[in-house]
Amino acid sequence: MHFTTLATFVAVAATASAQTLTGQYDCAPAGTYQLCQNLWGKSSGVGSQNSTLISTSGNTVSWRTQWQWQNNPNNVKSYANVLSNSAKGVQLSKVKSAPTTWSWEYESQSSGIRADVSYDIWTGNSPSGQPASSASSYEIMIWLSGLGGIQPVGSKILSGVSVAGHTWDLWKGPNSNWQVLSFVSSTGDITDFNVDLKNFFDYLVQSQGVSSSQYVQAIQTGTEPFTGSASLFTKSYSVAINQ
Ligand SMILES: *[C@@H]1O[C@H](CO)[C@@H](O)[C@H](O)[C@H]1NC(C)=O
Repeated sequence: MHFTTLATFVAVAATASAQTLTGQYDCAPAGTYQLCQNLWGKSSGVGSQNSTLISTSGNTVSWRTQWQWQNNPNNVKSYANVLSNSAKGVQLSKVKSAPTTWSWEYESQSSGIRADVSYDIWTGNSPSGQPASSASSYEIMIWLSGLGGIQPVGSKILSGVSVAGHTWDLWKGPNSNWQVLSFVSSTGDITDFNVDLKNFFDYLVQSQGVSSSQYVQAIQTGTEPFTGSASLFTKSYSVAINQ
């Protein structure tokens, strides 16, 4: 019995540590999340990227993304991310809390990297829908870091907005069939983030005209590199929606 338990544990640990994704659209299960490479803008540059699942524990996940990209400095090359399998399908009006924690660091970076470290939250009129699809109404980004002078979609409509204990610049603009609202940290990198996302939802409903009948369809968390090279390590990340 003991032997069986040990063997199972070893097998799981070995699978997790061997999990390096290299292909353009490779994904792998990562506990209560899915880890995806998502090199959607690969053709606008030259380079490579990989993502490695480090560990999972309960609703917490740890992973690493290494990337190096050249050319077209204003084009996003990819969005390696984890997608929550459970924090979705809830109307904004029904969200009691949406706690999230994200502890990350650049283990290495070339000089002058252009990249963000960000949440990408998708909402729409129906409970389910793929990110960046015909079902999307809003794309809500939260940039915990934006290096090298990069900018979100649209234009800056507000500075110094206080939400969830941090100060943000708010950017807004259309993309395809949805609106993008991006909160960009006004105070530089936030490497230990621990907030209730309901604060952002409430602000958007009360101050930016987002309907509380919108459903959260997906919460993704990761990095958008433009140019340079870096190793981004997430020590621990979690998100949940309580209704
Ligand atoms: C991961 O990507 C980095 C940067 O592109 C590269 O240096 C490294 O060799 C890659 N590792 C694997 C296992 O592909």
